[in-house]
This record gives sequence, C-alpha cells and structure tokens, in this order.
Amino acid sequence: MSQPKTILITGASGLIGSPLCLALKARGHTVRTLSRGDGGDFQWDPAAGTMDASAVEGVDAIIHLAGESVAQRWTAAVKERILNSRVASTRLLVEGALKQSKVPGYIAASGISYYGIDRERSVDESSETGRGFLAEVTRQWEGAAQQLETAGSRCVYLRTGIVLSAKGGALAKMLLPFKMGVGGRIGHGQQKMSWISLDDLVQIYVFAVENEAVRGPINAVAPEPVSNNIFTKTLGKVLHRPTIFPMPALVVESLFGEMGRETVLSNLGVKPKRLVDLGFQWQQPQLETALSKSI
Ligand SMILES: NC(=O)c1ccc[n+]([C@@H]2O[C@H](COP(=O)([O-])OP(=O)(O)OC[C@H]3O[C@@H](n4cnc5c(N)ncnc54)[C@H](OP(=O)(O)O)[C@@H]3O)[C@@H](O)[C@H]2O)c1
Repeated sequence: MSQPKTILITGASGLIGSPLCLALKARGHTVRTLSRGDGGDFQWDPAAGTMDASAVEGVDAIIHLAGESVAQRWTAAVKERILNSRVASTRLLVEGALKQSKVPGYIAASGISYYGIDRERSVDESSETGRGFLAEVTRQWEGAAQQLETAGSRCVYLRTGIVLSAKGGALAKMLLPFKMGVGGRIGHGQQKMSWISLDDLVQIYVFAVENEAVRGPINAVAPEPVSNNIFTKTLGKVLHRPTIFPMPALVVESLFGEMGRETVLSNLGVKPKRLVDLGFQWQQPQLETALSKSI
C-alpha cells in the first residue's frame, strides 16, 4: 500500500466517480470532491470559468472525470458543450495546480475514441490518433494539460473503453431490449468493441494514483476486445434471452446520427499494452464474467 494521499476529484457524482471515491477512501486516501452543484466539498462552474481556488490547495493528485455526457444527439450546441466542458475545466484545474508550491499529479479520463472511428488493425498507446469529432475532443482534452506536464507533474490519461455497468453508460441502455428478448447485433456485427468492467476501471484509477510508474496515455480496456456479434451473443447468454433482432446501421444512424456512427457503430480493437507492461491484474478479464457481475 502506498502512502495515503489527498485527492481532488471532479465528476465524483458520476458513474465512475461514485465507486472510485469509495474505493480510494477504503484504501486510506482523503478524497475532496469538486462539483457544479452543492453536493461537492468544493464548487466550480467550468462554463463560467470559475473555481473555488482552495479546492486544489495541498492536494497530491487531481482526478478529472467531469464532462458533458456524450450519449445524446449531437446538435452544434451539444458538441460545443461536450468539448468545452472538458477543455475549459482542464484549463481551470491546470491554472489552479500551477499556483501550488508542489505541483500535484493529474489523472484524467480520456476515451479510446482518440484512435478514431474505424481501425482495420488493433491499436495500442503507440498508435496514431484517428478521425472524428470525439477523436478531436480527446486530443484537445489531453492537450489542455500539457502545461502541467511541462511543469513536471505526473500526468496520466486513461483512454477508456465501453464501461460495463447496469447503472449507466452503453450497457444500461442495451439492457431493456435485451431483457425483453428483442436485442440483437448492431449493424453487421463485425465491428470490434473494446470494453472494461466498472470494477476493473475503478482499480485502474487506484493503480494510477498509487504507482508513480504510471504516466502518459494508458488504454483502460480489458485485454481482449470482442466483435459486436460476440458481445451480443454473450449478453444474451448471460441474460438467458434470444438475440435474433439485429439493429441495422441505417436505423442507428437515423436514431442517433453522428453520435451513433462514432460510438456503437465504431470499429476499435484497443489493446491495453501499457497496463500489461506495468503488471496490472484485471479481476474480470473475460466478457462473460464481467457481464454477469455488471447486470
Ligand atoms: N462511462 C463510459 O463508458 C466512459 C467511456 C469513456 C470515457 N468516459 C469518460 O469518463 C468520464 C466520467 O464518466 P462517467 O460515465 O462517470 O460520466 P457521468 O456519469 O456522465 O458523470 C460525469 C460528471 O461530470 C459532471 N458534468 C456533467 N456535465 C458537465 C458539464 N457540462 N460541465 C462540467 N461538468 C459536468 C457531473 O458532475 P457534477 O454534477 O458533480 O459537476 C457528472 O457527475 C467522462 O468524462 C467520460 O467522457 C466514460
């Protein structure tokens, strides 16, 4: 066990933040939360460019999860909020962190969409970035912390895959049709899905907090991506339901537009090379076990 640390978390009320706060406290760390609402220990309003300056004072690390949800139809205004909520908030944190006598570490959520929308071969952290709106968001989101890296801070960017949880995210949305027996593959079903159980993702954040060797971009995914066909069959098996109703790509596009193309229809086989090299141990490396424990 590493020395107890004082950690500031943004987006602590969210799907990942809630169990992460509990896990960090259970490991003996002190957690401070920074929120737009009254529920946090400290307040900020990234859209207005304001933050309670004392939030960052004396912290060993910042974990930055906050950001407008991606899972909505992307109008021009929504796209602006998705981008600005991440970039403007990062700038506020960087500004506050650089005023400290000891610059804190910085661990931020990012997305595997950094690698684009459609990759023929598997990608790892050494792969180049790809095309698409979300790829641009992740580049700017990670890039906004550059000044901290230059100032000597240990910066970690967790390029996160599809998080498996019944409480939110992609799986929660898929559960109802699958439980009703009207689930099925999406599009042609051959697109690769890079997933991670919420339990393992929380442990990856704890690992990043406690291990100084963790730095730079880290793919936060399970060791083996699967095709949407395999994901669909495995979910049906775990739920004991048929999966014979495919959702054609055209239907996805008309329902969700660009968001659908860049998420459920995207083809990204992402390998967690850095986590393997660092010796991280997944508790749920197999999809069937991870799905059983998530639903
Ligand atoms: N879940 C996934 O599958 C997944 C995959 C890849 C990457 N990620 C990234 O990981 C991070 C955390 O994910 P999550 O699933 O825990 O997200 P979440 O449940 O949507 O929670 C995000 C938190 O961000 C804050 N927030 C929401 N809208 C905001 C806005 N417009 N401006 C500033 N703050 C805002 C909220 O906290 P307050 O109300 O307290 O301010 C909220 O609790 C996100 O940045 C997400 O993009 C998630």
